Amino acid sequence: MDKKTEAILEKHGYRRSSIIRIMTDIQEEYNYLPQENLTYVSRRLKIPLSKIFSIATFYAAFSLYPRGKHLVTVCSGTACFVRGVENVLSRIEDRLGIKAGSTTPDNLFTLETVNCLGACALAPIVVVDGEYYGQATVQKIDTILDKYRNEENSETTH
Ligand code: FES
Repeated sequence: MDKKTEAILEKHGYRRSSIIRIMTDIQEEYNYLPQENLTYVSRRLKIPLSKIFSIATFYAAFSLYPRGKHLVTVCSGTACFVRGVENVLSRIEDRLGIKAGSTTPDNLFTLETVNCLGACALAPIVVVDGEYYGQATVQKIDTILDKYRNEENSETTH
């Protein structure tokens, strides 16, 4: 029995209609949706696994793969593209040493792209852990990534 997932199901009264909230809680617990937990939910609530997977892939907030501690989201929508987000993205890829859609080997950063964050006036936009950084430039990105790296270093030296 998967105790954590069982507790989440119980919290939501084993309601099939609460499936999105159940998945949200699982993701909060693990930082992504582990397949074995989704299989467990599917069995307990008698919801086809294929349906749960289609919900997981429909909502960008869900991830079927492990995510790093910090989530870096780069908007690659039209407005951001026109204002040069490509340069910003390749700078982030260089700095982190990974391509969009992957996680650094130390599990600190996951880099993702999305189509439009709905705040085109601020283009180009980078979001780190839910914090929006508008009019992003290569210089700004360096400062932002340094800030997160420094925070990590000071956490590990305490
Ligand atoms: S295109 Fe980037 S926020 Fe809309």
